[in-house]
Amino acid sequence: MSEVLAPSAANIERAARALAAGEVVAFPTETVYGLGADAADPAAVARVFALKGRPATHPLIVHLGSAVQAQQWSAHWPPAAQRLADRFWPGPLTLIVRKAGSVHAAVTGGQDSVGLRVPSHPVARALLAEFARLGSGAIAAPSANRFGRLSATHAAHVLAEFGAQVPIVLDGGACEVGIESTIVDLSRGPPVLLRPGAIALAALADALGERPRAPDADAPRASGTLASHYAPRAQVMLVEADLVAEIAGFLAGDGKTVAVLARTAGEPLEPRLRWQRAPQDAAGYAHDLYAMLRALDQPGTDVIVVERPPLDAAWGAIADRLQRAAADRPAQEAG
Ligand code: TXA
Ligand code: MG
Repeated sequence: MSEVLAPSAANIERAARALAAGEVVAFPTETVYGLGADAADPAAVARVFALKGRPATHPLIVHLGSAVQAQQWSAHWPPAAQRLADRFWPGPLTLIVRKAGSVHAAVTGGQDSVGLRVPSHPVARALLAEFARLGSGAIAAPSANRFGRLSATHAAHVLAEFGAQVPIVLDGGACEVGIESTIVDLSRGPPVLLRPGAIALAALADALGERPRAPDADAPRASGTLASHYAPRAQVMLVEADLVAEIAGFLAGDGKTVAVLARTAGEPLEPRLRWQRAPQDAAGYAHDLYAMLRALDQPGTDVIVVERPPLDAAWGAIADRLQRAAADRPAQEAG
């Protein structure tokens, strides 16, 4: 049985006790829901990998209550880490630093670095505080979705992904940001932006005093950086705004069941065509993105035609997620 719990003090304590007992707990963060386990307990962490169906070589992010705690998980805390932590924590930023000797390989996927994040969601913070009292205070958590699938931004999405396999889901309502955290790698020299998120590149550059670089070919493996990720079951096509109606109409006329996700209004002329209006602004769009894609990705939907987002920087992280959703899926990720 899976229980969706309101985030009362009693339920947060219950969730923290479950973590301390080696169990898996799903919880809200400001970005997306996480599937959490005690980061200091390799057996609990292994349960998260098994639930997600994620390859053991893909590292998890360790969530902590403060930057001081985060430093204890790192072997080396560079000045750049402190600058970013000062500016953006608690918040939707993950820092990759060299791991402390005590950090289990189960968490880091065997790498010598570790991803650290201090989330700002009040329920995540309360859970971390309670778990610091009752246990290690460090929660290793990937996004609460099966490997390669859309992240969860509502408690109901977590249930849809895992059903009764996750005994406790803390319900914090809709996640405010809606897309996964910005990831900056500081473990290998100059800062590298591994995953764009809600924090603007210009703000990162301002805090760092330099522009973070793009990852090169031998950058560490990050599942969010696989070409195909965040994928609905239906095929996703990214299409220029002025062609959306025509292409969707053509596909529907061809017998396909088509859904459209577009910021512009459309005429659903074909009965098999569903048209979802998306928010105009990037923050609103990110907030709704996974819920909209999940709603459109019904069994029987063949194609989701998505209007290509604007090119300006504010839409960068959204464009990144949509490109990955639209990318061809390798066979092992198709299930
Ligand atoms: O917003 C978020 O970051 C959410 C919430 C729950 O905090 N978490 C999340 O976790 O998106 P996940 O596991 O779905 O994505 C974490 C990404 C993966 O791409 C992983 O490979 C990368 O972070 N990552 C973690 N540790 C790393 C490391 N040591 N080196 C390189 N990449 C790392
Ligand atoms: Mg994920």
